[in-house]
Amino acid sequence: MLRRLHHDQPDSFAFTPANQAWAEAQITKYPEGRQASAIIPLLWRAQEQEGWLTRPAIEHVADMLGMAYIRALEVATFYFMFQLQPVGSVAHVQICGTTSCLICGAEDLIGVCREKIADKPHALSADGKFSWEEVECLGACANAPMAQIGKDYYENLTAARLGEILDELAAGRVPVPGPQNGRYASEPLSGLTSLKEFDSGRTKYNASAQLATDIGDTVKRIDGTEVPLLTPWLGAGAKKASAKKTAPKKAPARAEAPAEAAGAEPSLLAAPRAGGADDLKQLKGVGPKLEQTLNELGVYHFDQIAAWTEAEIAWVDDRLKFRGRIQRDGWVEQAKTLAAGGTTEFADKVKKGDVY
Ligand code: FES
Repeated sequence: MLRRLHHDQPDSFAFTPANQAWAEAQITKYPEGRQASAIIPLLWRAQEQEGWLTRPAIEHVADMLGMAYIRALEVATFYFMFQLQPVGSVAHVQICGTTSCLICGAEDLIGVCREKIADKPHALSADGKFSWEEVECLGACANAPMAQIGKDYYENLTAARLGEILDELAAGRVPVPGPQNGRYASEPLSGLTSLKEFDSGRTKYNASAQLATDIGDTVKRIDGTEVPLLTPWLGAGAKKASAKKTAPKKAPARAEAPAEAAGAEPSLLAAPRAGGADDLKQLKGVGPKLEQTLNELGVYHFDQIAAWTEAEIAWVDDRLKFRGRIQRDGWVEQAKTLAAGGTTEFADKVKKGDVY
């Protein structure tokens, strides 16, 4: 399938404050120079927030990771889990059309989608509430036919039951996920034949359906306030903080040190010196977008960055979209090496074209 960006795009994208804090925390999981590894979780969170991946969202994530837009677009267009066009405001319905589901009635389910949602997949229903698509095996073959609606599975479906589920969702209710034919999980329809002793004391629904019911976010958009933001990989100093509390603490050092917050303008140039600008992308953490931003500020050479003081770092930091990366990525130390004619492992990779 040819996957293109949708023709109608919003002007901008921004994570909610809690999602922004979550996204910034995810980036810290990766070693310096490898921030691009966070692209899939960040794109996924953008989609969880908006329902689909807009071009501004993809570019926003690319900026956060110091990646060229084309690299982020390659990821977004490669994986089918990313929706590149608007989805239903209530739910996007994914019907499994692989073998087990197909021989158990998936075509009838698709017929319901065509009738109740839209004739073609990836199109919005007339009221904008639903969209649908056929997908490959979702791993619930023993409970075929099935569909994923929002985040959860509805199994052992019939056309009639899927129609009812869509009606319930349209009315603002969320039907209980899991088997829809009276089965508890994947046991024989006639009941358990073994391990019967484990039948007592079980929860009302099977573990997946119970958790889905308890959490209650089956078709909810995720704004980041759902669960506390935990960052155990950052150590004891940052082990627990709710997303709401973390978001405003984006730049605690500046908040606690007003003298540094003002910053001091570093030495800037109106244009690169004779001989041309240095390739600032040789600094770990500087992608094409950040290099452009630095150039626009008047920073073209490694020796300029190598000379930055703490106050000057704060000044530049305030003008970058994603603060804190100068110190986190060690730009000044790298720049000192490169300005002195040396090199770094990362710079060597950039020169060889191994870094995107
Ligand atoms: S074939 Fe449908 S879930 Fe596997």
